[in-house]
Amino acid sequence: MTVAVYPGSFDPITNGHLNLIERGLRVFDRVIVAVAINRSKKPLFSPEERMAMIREAAGDDPRVDVASFTGLLVDFAREQNAAVVLRGLRAISDFEFEFQMTHMNRRLHPGLEMVFMMTDEEYFFVSSSLVREIAAFGGKLRGLVPDNVERKLAERLST
Ligand code: PNS
Repeated sequence: MTVAVYPGSFDPITNGHLNLIERGLRVFDRVIVAVAINRSKKPLFSPEERMAMIREAAGDDPRVDVASFTGLLVDFAREQNAAVVLRGLRAISDFEFEFQMTHMNRRLHPGLEMVFMMTDEEYFFVSSSLVREIAAFGGKLRGLVPDNVERKLAERLST
């Protein structure tokens, strides 16, 4: 049984993330979507809100778990007995950060494999930060995020 941790900020989850979860499930037996709690960032949504949005959007597939973690990703992966960390790659601009993170994680936990999947072409320009910005200015988000996230963004940004 191969368990993959799919870590990220997910502030909020987008259709690009959902696409990666779906495709991860074609390769791995279980995918743990792991919301990173980073105290130095000021997220739009709390970790609990982000997890609830992911659960609702990912549906009730028993092979998907949603969790949060603080501290190092490699320690969380170890606790979960995960052999793999799954990440999406959109453009070359993602590569530098992912390359650095992969080598650092490998140094910290040599047994852990980082696996990258190319985000489907219809989502390669989608990011949570752009989604937040579009939402803040009242732009159209249809097709970029799941419906529950679209509603939650409208609710949050109207208050
Ligand atoms: O969605 P993001 O913001 O690109 O995700 C980045 C994330 C959460 C995967 C990365 O920042 C991370 O792994 N954070 C946990 C802390 C950690 O392990 N840092 C060392 C990385 S080498």
